[in-house]
Amino acid sequence: MEPAQDRNDASRPAKLKVCIVGASGKLGQYMVRHALDRGYEVVGVCREGSVGKLDAFNGRITVIPGATDDRDAIRRAVDGCDGVLTVLVPRGVNHYSAGTAQAVLDHAEPGARLVFSCGWHITRDGQDVYSWKLKALVKIAGPLARLARFADIDDQVEACRRIFASDTRWTVVRGSDLEEGDSQGLPVWSRHAGDPILKSNITRRVDFALFMVEALTDDELVHQAPAIVGRQTPSALAHSVAARGGST
Ligand SMILES: NC(=O)c1ccc[n+]([C@@H]2O[C@H](COP(=O)([O-])OP(=O)(O)OC[C@H]3O[C@@H](n4cnc5c(N)ncnc54)[C@H](OP(=O)(O)O)[C@@H]3O)[C@@H](O)[C@H]2O)c1
Repeated sequence: MEPAQDRNDASRPAKLKVCIVGASGKLGQYMVRHALDRGYEVVGVCREGSVGKLDAFNGRITVIPGATDDRDAIRRAVDGCDGVLTVLVPRGVNHYSAGTAQAVLDHAEPGARLVFSCGWHITRDGQDVYSWKLKALVKIAGPLARLARFADIDDQVEACRRIFASDTRWTVVRGSDLEEGDSQGLPVWSRHAGDPILKSNITRRVDFALFMVEALTDDELVHQAPAIVGRQTPSALAHSVAARGGST
């Protein structure tokens, strides 16, 4: 990806400007760190009451307080950004995810890289194969969460439907179950949940964030919905042995 500032002046140093939508959450804060580590200029969006969660980055990032589905906040935040990293959360029952995705799709700079987070339950082409556990979670816990007005999984589905249908340069990163812990490096991925490489179904949250940030500069991931898993998990390691012809 060519930084916006360099599209007009090839002599200036490359420094990507990225917006992180949902920066105050766990995934968001890891993404802020990875982006700063790469020397990127960072603009974060988070709910007003959560701004304090970003105190550790004071002076190093610009924070735009606002709900992530606040179209005006998003318009201001993505202005001039080469990439936008968006945490899609299906919280509440007011179409928060779909509103967030739509605001980013509508206001991001033309040609910007847009990377969104969600879970394996999102399917792009219907070819994913799910465990009984995930199916039960979506079928039983989903309606219960909606009934309690806590979360609406269908809203994340709708958000991704809109992203898949858009002509922007999107990537939807589909996370496995997550855990905290030190980085294991860049997760491995597959096009479909159910593929053997993903069987371990666990990724360090710090590495989910790493994959999101790396996707900004990986054009092979444009218009892909990679399902990821930790690279040191048994299924990922078994696959890498198999890929080398069974040698260790
Ligand atoms: N958790 C998992 O095991 C898992 C598995 C697969 C994929 N994922 C995906 O990973 C991403 C991050 O998920 P996470 O579980 O790790 O959470 P997270 O990073 O802690 O992010 C939670 C986000 O939700 C926001 N939020 C919390 N309560 C809210 C409310 N009532 N209304 C609006 N926003 C609210 C938080 O904002 P504030 O900081 O303002 O509270 C924060 O931005 C998501 O895209 C999720 O679909 C998660």
